[in-house]
Amino acid sequence: MTIPLPFMLVMIIANLLFLSSKISSETNTISQLQPLPDGTTLVSEDGTFELGLFSPGSSTNRYLGIWFKTIKPKTVVWVANRDNPINNTNSTTKLTITKEGNLVLLNQNNNISWSTNTTTKATNVVAQLLDTGNLVLRDEEDNNPPKFLWQSFDHPSDTLLPGMKLGWEKVTTKGSLNLNRYLTAWNNWEDPSSGHFTYGFSRSTIPEKQMWNGSSLFFRNGPWNGIRFSGTPSLKHRPLFGLTFVYNADECYFQFYPKNSSLISRIVLNQTDYALRRFVWVEESQKWKLYMTVPGEYCDEYNHCGSFGYCAMLGKFPSCKCLLGFEPKSPQNWVASNWSQGCVLSSKRWRCREKDKDGFALFSNMKVPDTNTSWISRYSNMTLEKCKEKCWENCSCTAYGSSDITGKGSGCILWFGDLLDLRLLPNAGQDIYVRVDISQIGAKGGSTSRKVLVVVTGIVSSIIAILVIFVLVYCNKFRSKDVMKTKVKINDSNEEELELPLFDFDTIAFATNDFSSDNKLGQGGFGPVYKGTLPDGQDIAVKRLSQTSTQGLTEFKNEVIFCSKLQHRNLVKVLGCCINEQEKLLIYEYMPNKSLDFFLFDSSQSKLLDWSKRLNIINGIARGLLYLHQDSRLRIIHRDLKASNILLDNDMNPKISDFGLARMCRGDQNEGNTSRVVGTYGYMAPEYAIDGVFSIKSDVYSFGILLLEALSGKKNKGISYSNSSYNLIGHAWRLWKECTPKEFIDTCLGDSYVISEALRCIHIGLLCVQHLPDDRPNMTSVVVMLSSESVLPQPKEPVFLTEKVSVEEHFGQKMYYSTNEVTISKLEPR
Ligand SMILES: *[C@@H]1O[C@H](CO)[C@@H](O)[C@H](O)[C@H]1NC(C)=O
Ligand SMILES: *[C@@H]1O[C@H](CO)[C@@H](O)[C@H](O)[C@H]1NC(C)=O
Ligand SMILES: *[C@@H]1O[C@H](CO)[C@@H](O)[C@H](O)[C@H]1NC(C)=O
Ligand SMILES: *[C@@H]1O[C@H](CO)[C@@H](O)[C@H](O)[C@H]1NC(C)=O
Ligand SMILES: *[C@@H]1O[C@H](CO)[C@@H](O)[C@H](O)[C@H]1NC(C)=O
Ligand SMILES: *[C@@H]1O[C@H](CO)[C@@H](O)[C@H](O)[C@H]1NC(C)=O
Ligand SMILES: *[C@@H]1O[C@H](CO)[C@@H](O)[C@H](O)[C@H]1NC(C)=O
Ligand SMILES: *[C@@H]1O[C@H](CO)[C@@H](O)[C@H](O)[C@H]1NC(C)=O
Ligand SMILES: *[C@@H]1O[C@H](CO)[C@@H](O)[C@H](O)[C@H]1NC(C)=O
Ligand SMILES: *[C@@H]1O[C@H](CO)[C@@H](O)[C@H](O)[C@H]1NC(C)=O
Ligand SMILES: *[C@@H]1O[C@H](CO)[C@@H](O)[C@H](O)[C@H]1NC(C)=O
Repeated sequence: MTIPLPFMLVMIIANLLFLSSKISSETNTISQLQPLPDGTTLVSEDGTFELGLFSPGSSTNRYLGIWFKTIKPKTVVWVANRDNPINNTNSTTKLTITKEGNLVLLNQNNNISWSTNTTTKATNVVAQLLDTGNLVLRDEEDNNPPKFLWQSFDHPSDTLLPGMKLGWEKVTTKGSLNLNRYLTAWNNWEDPSSGHFTYGFSRSTIPEKQMWNGSSLFFRNGPWNGIRFSGTPSLKHRPLFGLTFVYNADECYFQFYPKNSSLISRIVLNQTDYALRRFVWVEESQKWKLYMTVPGEYCDEYNHCGSFGYCAMLGKFPSCKCLLGFEPKSPQNWVASNWSQGCVLSSKRWRCREKDKDGFALFSNMKVPDTNTSWISRYSNMTLEKCKEKCWENCSCTAYGSSDITGKGSGCILWFGDLLDLRLLPNAGQDIYVRVDISQIGAKGGSTSRKVLVVVTGIVSSIIAILVIFVLVYCNKFRSKDVMKTKVKINDSNEEELELPLFDFDTIAFATNDFSSDNKLGQGGFGPVYKGTLPDGQDIAVKRLSQTSTQGLTEFKNEVIFCSKLQHRNLVKVLGCCINEQEKLLIYEYMPNKSLDFFLFDSSQSKLLDWSKRLNIINGIARGLLYLHQDSRLRIIHRDLKASNILLDNDMNPKISDFGLARMCRGDQNEGNTSRVVGTYGYMAPEYAIDGVFSIKSDVYSFGILLLEALSGKKNKGISYSNSSYNLIGHAWRLWKECTPKEFIDTCLGDSYVISEALRCIHIGLLCVQHLPDDRPNMTSVVVMLSSESVLPQPKEPVFLTEKVSVEEHFGQKMYYSTNEVTISKLEPR
């Protein structure tokens, strides 16, 4: 028809030639004279890839595609006419090259089903299937890749092969503008037409690898940070693949290559289950082995935790937290695990650039927030200090961080507005600094995120240079990024990684005025306790452990982390620790109301503890102890329960401190016999003081003493008193027998107490201090007894120790103690 006769003749001859050549060998090239009819294929020179027409699954549609020649079942890596199939099983379909030098797929009616669209003119054009799986259109004489007229690698389907670029080019060598290479999933396994699930680079100033479901962002790999894409976990194994990332004014792309070139691998986007997977071919089993899947975890879901929230995996489950300094926008939704609304700044008094209020908090191991509306420094040599200044100056800047984290980090990214899609990535991610009210996060210290350390800013240009330098030195001291980690087995199948901030020694020394005696709060069994104030204003209590630990450093760290995980409203919160060769420090939340003994045994202060407060304190201690004994993952025996170890918060709620220290510092078994006694004279159960046998029941004994002290306002003077009338237990026993609690109850309470309650408490106290451990109730029973009206068993008459017991004799060891309130902790072999 429109084809001139001579040309047709040439075509026929060419066809004949082609048929004859097909018999002799496979070909990898078609030319203008040699089209490729249906039923024949091109095979790359090394025999890896094959190009031809195929019908996926049960479909009758014909598609032009490329697949691995030797791999069964057929694994298609590229489809040409995916959105315009040829609907005819026995067609005279063919692939040919036009006069103009375009590759076209013609159906049985000679209609164009698919075509390349090159504008460059060339005379002798050939199409060749390369060993890489790339179908290229080129001048027959010119084998130089940059001169290719067209290549299938520029138009990916759903699969990325080694050497393929994923990304965009502003101006290609071929003159076509805005080439964007991204993956588009098949609609399903037998329909290669373009799905709505895509994967490629964003076109923003900070390109990110992103996955889209239609028009909604589904997953971000995050921007390149010099080592990896920000949202990628660090690789555990020696990687099988290398990758290239190029970003400049003209182009941005990502490429991967196997480190061993004989490895066959592909990355494919799948819309059936919304995943990107990397497979590796295993010759032995003749199977594709799954190597990696993204998104991999719930936390990968885009913006799972809303703005200013971040996602952390708790075992297999995602958990959202607000960044420190932020609180849930809707607390009701938040507790119901509907995190979509995210968090807002908790401080209502924050003012941009206000001294001592406006500052930045450091968050480590973070996948950086969405960079859609971010700014990046042009030069990669910009320092973090400069970056901070730049953020500080602009009131809509909400966070900053290094753009390249290799080495010490360099370059600068600023974020504006809401921070979206943050997540915690153990061993990966990077530091980012989020703008908060630093005066507030001090007060709330650690309640939202323990990983967060605070950096003070407030550097205003008006502050004289010396001060600036001072603050910078100060900041560096405080900026300890280290976090201790340990793996904890929750049950047989689940391990959880726990972590605890490691403070650096200089920071703590600074916070406590070099452990000055003015800052000393007290002296506990395991060392002195100091008050300190962190640079952000948060008050802390620091326990400087004496050199008693016999444990290895690692075991000790693990114990600390373990105990930091114990969380109960009646336990003091461990904020972190500091460990080096010489020093072991534990950092706790600071309790402004000191300890119970301060109130109880002081005639003026004890008036502040009315009856209901005392009952609340007794109940709180009981619940805290029950948690230690039973509810926590570790069975912890406190071994040094006493009034000075019960701290009081602002509302006079009791919090047990020093729990777990016996374990940490001694490394003893849970229950058993020890030659090293930790405990305090007066609170120690007889079997423990005398025989060194301890158990949860020895803690119950100490609780009983504590209870009696709280009721009477008197200190138990210990087991050595020969005159039982001075002995608190004996005293309680006698008055309980006579049903006259009045004499026992603290006189400063006057008549404000309820007699029946008081009697019940004394009764419970006496049950707890019974001589034989087996007779004493456990803490579960104690909690029940305290909160119910049930009938209580009769306590056995306590055995009064009428002789001073020499502990030395029993242990054959020397023991240092004084009769007033000092923990027996230092023991030395004689
Ligand atoms: C293919 O052709 C058959 C018959 O010509 C028709 O019934 C069918 O709908 C066509 N399928 C597609 C996908 O166009
Ligand atoms: C298609 O193929 C079938 C058998 O495979 C044949 O009977 C039929 O005539 C063919 N149709 C055309 C249009 O070639
Ligand atoms: C295919 O070719 C026929 C005849 O040449 C024409 O009538 C028809 O419109 C063409 N179809 C397409 C989709 O181009
Ligand atoms: C081919 O490219 C030109 C310009 O680059 C464009 O105008 C034209 O629509 C394209 N044709 C096809 C079939 O894609
Ligand atoms: C997508 O994955 C499913 C299994 O997860 C598989 O059955 C299906 O063939 C895959 N689809 C494509 C297009 O590869
Ligand atoms: C993807 O988008 C479609 C259409 O909006 C929606 O029906 C589907 O649930 C989305 N899939 C996922 C996994 O979000
Ligand atoms: C590459 O892999 C092949 C096949 O697994 C193996 O025989 C060869 O030793 C490997 N080469 C290197 C350098 O590891
Ligand atoms: C989460 O909260 C938002 C805002 O209140 C609401 O629109 C949405 O329906 C909630 N989602 C679920 C799953 O309850
Ligand atoms: C990115 O920012 C542009 C405007 O700067 C906005 O139109 C677009 O919706 C943003 N994309 C996302 C995913 O937020
Ligand atoms: C950073 O690099 C740019 C360009 O290479 C240079 O002009 C500038 O002086 C450098 N700045 C510093 C502080 O080194
Ligand atoms: C702060 O940054 C935003 C976003 O880059 C910009 O639009 C605004 O002009 C800047 N404001 C100032 C005061 O520089």
